[in-house]
Amino acid sequence: MAKKGRFITFEGGEGVGKSTQIRLLAEKLAEAGIKAIVTREPGGSPQAEALRRVILSGAASPFGPAGEAILFAAARIDHIDETIAPALAAGDWVLCDRFADSTRAYQGAAGKLDKSLIDSLERVAVGETRPDLTLVLDMPIEKSLERAAARRQGSAEPDRFEREGRAFHETLRQAFLDIAAAEPQRCAVIDADRPSEQVGQEVWAQVRDRFIKPRRRAEAKD
Ligand SMILES: Nc1ncnc2c1ncn2[C@@H]1O[C@H](COP(=O)(O)OP(=O)(O)OP(=O)(O)O)[C@@H](O)[C@H]1O
Ligand SMILES: [Mg+2]
Repeated sequence: MAKKGRFITFEGGEGVGKSTQIRLLAEKLAEAGIKAIVTREPGGSPQAEALRRVILSGAASPFGPAGEAILFAAARIDHIDETIAPALAAGDWVLCDRFADSTRAYQGAAGKLDKSLIDSLERVAVGETRPDLTLVLDMPIEKSLERAAARRQGSAEPDRFEREGRAFHETLRQAFLDIAAAEPQRCAVIDADRPSEQVGQEVWAQVRDRFIKPRRRAEAKD
């Protein structure tokens, strides 16, 4: 069988540092000689990016959580087909900023969408292309929302999800923790309320211990 890259997703609420940590991890992997692509959801392929604009503008919210979830699934199918699966098949690693757990948290827990619909959409959209590791960045929502607002620097408008209230974001935070607790093999919860470098070191430790160290040891035996 062809060599297969690792698929790592970053999850968590608004402003917890997902994009920052993805950049740091991509740098560390490059230093280790591992080729990784960085991508994001919603989006990550031209057609999925077009849907991202529709979803995040709020134009899709009148469809309700089910309609939004179906649009996310459509975007995800294209993203996997066009970007993620080809990279993994080529042996590259894929670092993805949000993935199916965000649908479970945003449309499922916080949007109160029926779990059986979420599960069905996930089966159709994700299929076998499941993450090897999901890093859940966790911190108090007051601080993460402050970070998200500061990043906009008062210029851009908050997006459709940033505009939601405190209860929505608390529910989201708990939903990500619940997902991690239900799938401890796949998920690691990282305390994101620390300087980026410290968070990055823990991210790197997770990745190295799971995927890099054992392989080196195995290679050393050959
Ligand atoms: N550990 C940290 N400590 C302080 N500030 C941080 C930290 N990590 C990221 N930031 C800053 O907080 C803001 C949000 O970070 P980032 O964009 O990485 O979060 P995100 O999870 O990708 O947010 P979003 O969900 O809105 O995409 C940025 O301005 C970033 O520079
Ligand atoms: Mg981001």
